[in-house]
This record gives sequence, C-alpha cells and structure tokens, in this order.
Amino acid sequence: MNLKNDLILRAARGEEIERYPVWLMRQAGRILPEYRAVRSSLTGFKELVETPALAAEVTIQPVDLLGVDAAIIFSDILVVPEAMGLTYEMVEQKGPFFPKTIKSEDDLVKYAQVDFDIEDRLGYVTEAIRITNKELGGCVPLIGFAGAPWTIFCYMIEGQGSKTFAKARKVLYTNPALAHDLLQRITDVTIRYLKAQVKAGAHMLQVFDSWAGILGQEQYEEFGLKYIDKIAQEINEVPITIFAKGAFRAIEPIAKMSCNTIGLDWNMSVQEVRKLVGEAKTLQGNLDPCALYSSHNEVERLTKNMLNSFESKRHIVNLGHGVYPDINPDKVRTFIETVKNYERKN
Ligand code: CP3
Repeated sequence: MNLKNDLILRAARGEEIERYPVWLMRQAGRILPEYRAVRSSLTGFKELVETPALAAEVTIQPVDLLGVDAAIIFSDILVVPEAMGLTYEMVEQKGPFFPKTIKSEDDLVKYAQVDFDIEDRLGYVTEAIRITNKELGGCVPLIGFAGAPWTIFCYMIEGQGSKTFAKARKVLYTNPALAHDLLQRITDVTIRYLKAQVKAGAHMLQVFDSWAGILGQEQYEEFGLKYIDKIAQEINEVPITIFAKGAFRAIEPIAKMSCNTIGLDWNMSVQEVRKLVGEAKTLQGNLDPCALYSSHNEVERLTKNMLNSFESKRHIVNLGHGVYPDINPDKVRTFIETVKNYERKN
C-alpha cells in the first residue's frame, strides 16, 4: 500500500523533507482518555497487548487524536522474554514483575528458549500490525520495536524495575559466560521477531535500550553495543533507530553501526551529537518530557528552541523519552503543531 505521509521514512534515510516529522515515544497510552476507556473495560494491560483488534485500535488513536506522523504498534518490550519462557505480570501502579528469573545455566533451557516459531508465540503482535495497517489505510507509517538485549537481560535477571539493576550488573562480574549466553539468546530471538514485524508490515523499527546508561563504557560495549550491532547488521529491510538512553558515549560507536537513526535523550545536546556523527545519521529527539508540564506558550518556545538547534534536514522530532502519563494531551498537541508549523532553515 502506498503511504500518504512518508515523511518519517524519508527523514530516516536522509532524503528531502518538506518539514520535520514528529511522533512521541509512548504516544499510545495513558495520556489519552480514549486509551484509558479501552483499557478500563479489560482485565489489564496484557489483555490489551494480546488482543490484536484492540491493540490496533489504541495504536491508531494518537494518529487520529494528536496528528503524529507515525504510529507505533501498541505492545511492550517484555513480550520477548515471555515468548522465551519467562512470563511477566503488569502490576497496576507499579510496573512489570516476573515471578521467575534467570539464576543459572539450567534456567536458560527453560526460561530463555530460542528455538520456537515467532508466529506461534508472538503472532498476536504481527496480527496487530496487519490490522493496524489495514485500518490506517496508508495514512502514516507504522513503527515496530523491541527492547535491546541488555535492557531485556535486566528484566530477566532482576525480575522487576530497579534504580540500579544491581542483580543484573552483578552477573556481568560473577558469571560473564552466562551473561553472554543469555544476551546472545535474546539477540537471536529479537532479530527473528523484528523481521517478523517487518514481514507483517512494520515500515520502520526502533530498538529501545532504556537501561544503557547504567553500565560503564567498557561494559556497555561488551554487553550492550555488541548485541545491538548484531541486530543492526541483520536488519536491512527497513530503516532502524537505536535509542540507547543515558549513554552519551555510545553515540560514536552507534554512529558506526548499520542503522539510520540515533535516538537522543534530553541530556544530550543535539548540536554536540551532530558534530560527533556528521551527516551520516538521522537524529531523533529530544525535548525533555517534563517540558510538556509548562504552559502552552512555553511548550511552543522550548520546542522552537530545539528546532532552531537542528542544523540539518536529518531529524525526527520526539521527546527525549516516553511521554509521562499525566501530561495534558493539549500540550502534546501544542508540541506537535509547533513542529508542523515550523519553517526549516536548512
Ligand atoms: O506508544 C508506544 O510507545 C508503544 C507502546 C509501548 C509500551 N511500552 C506500552 C506500555 C512501548 C514502545 C513500550 C516500551 C517499553 N516497555 C520500554 C522501553 C521504553 C522506555 O520507556 O524506556 C520499557 C522499559 C518497557 C517496560 C515497561 N512497560 C514498564 C517499565 C512499564 C511500567 C511503567 C509504566 O509506564 O507504566 C510498562 C507498562 C506499559 N507499557 C504501559 C504502556 C502503555 C502502561 C501500562 C498501562 O496501561 O497501565
């Protein structure tokens, strides 16, 4: 199907664009009352993720209601460990919880399975992608995604969110062989999963390394970037974005990878990153999500400041991390409209 708006794909490839494309990480979710309405009729988050018609419905909501230039499939990075044998619960007001975690090599056989059919265990995601594209009718591209191996590893070892992920980091020192074994397993599954999303119709992909910033540089290269690189090398079908949150020093190695776009959090100066990577990559980001708590005028001013710092056409506008659930959707609209009305100077 021909896309009516392919701005984001052109921006990712470094092609000409009339204006900068804009979308938000976590745009499909609790900021929208329409999302909360769908969600409240269900037993929980997982039911929504696992019901393709409903996942498609909430994926499309921000396109219709906010006017973003791309949809991102409604799902979660944690569906991958679940498919590998480690189920999770999404605890209301708290976040993910894994009743079992990986503690030994023996656990890998049971809880870090690799040889399974993606459609068998994750067919609800690919089905949601097919339905979403049918319903979008080509109005905007659809982004598929997965967690980076290191971030998935964090949850499989730790079993829940953590400020330090000390259990996960401990394994890197006490049993690096186990760590590499698990990371390679996650990588193998993730590559097949991302390819299945493309086959189902994802027009571009993003890899989220939310916990990149908690490792030192050398460890991040060995246990993080090495596996992201393997993923980037295998995905050639569609543009791919790597978002390594909190890892400023990972920008240069990521810039050497076979990816189109580098996601930036709000700690990073777009101008500095541009100096580091040149014109070889598109940059995505990076307004502080908290900026959307300010007044409409201030949101507009801050967004324009960010746009003025772009010295190239190779930009996709986003926040520096997911939008916070209590942000007023009207502020998101101001952010989006400011980007759409902005006249690019380069
Ligand atoms: O709109 C989108 O971006 C698509 C949907 C999406 C979700 N999770 C839905 C979701 C995406 C891309 C994710 C990725 C994700 N999930 C990441 C990486 C990005 C990041 O934020 O760093 C991570 C670390 C997770 C794991 C996860 N899922 C956590 C820690 C939590 C609890 C915290 C929270 O925000 O509630 C979730 C739950 C989750 N995933 C929700 C949504 C909409 C909230 C669940 C609800 O509706 O109650």
